[in-house]
Amino acid sequence: MQLQDIDLLDRDVFTNGIPHEWFTYLRNNAPVYRHPEPKGPGFWVVTKYADVYAVGRDAATFSSDQDRGGVIGLEEQEMEVDFGEAKIMLMMDPPEHTRQRKLVNKGFTPKHINALEEHIRELTARILEEAIAKGECDFVVDIAAELPLQVIAELIGVPHEDRHKIFDWSNRMVGSEDPEYAVSLDEANNARFEMFMYAQQLADARRADPRDDILTTLLDAEVDGDKLSEMEFNLFFMLLSVAGNETTRNAISHGLNAFLENPGEYEKLVQDPAGVITGATEEILRWASPVMYFKRNVTQDTELHGNEFREGDKVSIWYVSANRDEEVFADPFRFDVERSPNDHLAFGGGGPHFCLGSSLARMEIRVLFEELANRVPVLRPLGQPDRLRSNFIGGIKHLPVDLTATPVRTG
Ligand code: HEM
Repeated sequence: MQLQDIDLLDRDVFTNGIPHEWFTYLRNNAPVYRHPEPKGPGFWVVTKYADVYAVGRDAATFSSDQDRGGVIGLEEQEMEVDFGEAKIMLMMDPPEHTRQRKLVNKGFTPKHINALEEHIRELTARILEEAIAKGECDFVVDIAAELPLQVIAELIGVPHEDRHKIFDWSNRMVGSEDPEYAVSLDEANNARFEMFMYAQQLADARRADPRDDILTTLLDAEVDGDKLSEMEFNLFFMLLSVAGNETTRNAISHGLNAFLENPGEYEKLVQDPAGVITGATEEILRWASPVMYFKRNVTQDTELHGNEFREGDKVSIWYVSANRDEEVFADPFRFDVERSPNDHLAFGGGGPHFCLGSSLARMEIRVLFEELANRVPVLRPLGQPDRLRSNFIGGIKHLPVDLTATPVRTG
């Protein structure tokens, strides 16, 4: 392989699976690589664990701010989804980001998240029972997409019957590079607008009728006499709906696929769910890395391992590559539910933007696979995973599986 063979802008490649051989090549031969782009200056590709971690933590040099280019999209876009003047928290730098993060943290305390476990278990049981009753199912559509969607809907107070609106809006906003969800830019902008209006109505309803839930906590949250403005609330609602859905769905789908490919690891989980599940959850996150990269934008000239970064340069940090870094993870291409330590970067590297929903996502993955292992002793694949056409979200769209197979007894 040569560097010229690598084209991270070719989305079609990702429909055949994550091009791990490219990332392995980059880590070993060009860990900080200036990737060309057809109609722009190119972008840096950072693939080693230590560098991904360091860039993610240095917000002063590597900005997430929307006005400098934000965090999504590698190449220059002719047109983008129009977020207007307003910014989502993911695309702010400190101190602007710090203020908002402090406010929303109030809705994501361990107390709030732990209080959801029982309910998440009930939702999971219902979703699994329905899928098992079908016998053969599409694991992604019937299970992996349903759970995060129902949890987010619950979290932000969306009535059950409206939850598919959230699914549809977030698909239209994110999955637009895949022909199955293909939308025009107008449609993506409309989705954004509809979602915004919907958030507004929900907030109004909750202000009139406060409850003991995260939505009310967010609307009431105050730090030093400061509250979320209406605009900030609506944007946060949108960020949560997108950030909490696609990511968790794909972690669960990749997790199942990994178990299908490694039946021995599933067997370990079935034999001892309580003992194995914590390790399995972390390994699923490392293995899946559903957010493959985020971008940063250089604020002042700097260098990394002798590569000169100029102000304005785009730097992409590839979590999916960091999580297979052979210098950090022994035998990184082995799916090992007992891997320890397992300090993966699936949720980012501990910088200011470290995933707000990490505890919730961990809980969903843990509960889902615990309940699955309790009900389904063997997994039988019925086809290959159908993958999302995206170089940003590592996604599986469909994964047919039989959840009613019985173990083959030997001897
Ligand atoms: C497996 C599932 C998930 C993965 C892999 C994931 C991954 C990430 C990553 C990589 C970041 C950026 C970290 C950084 O730049 O340092 C992030 C930020 C964020 N995530 Fe998640 N996430 C997941 C689930 C969730 C869930 C369930 C929620 C909400 C309920 C959520 C809400 C957010 C928010 C709001 C941010 C922005 C935080 C900020 O800007 O301060 N995520 N996530």
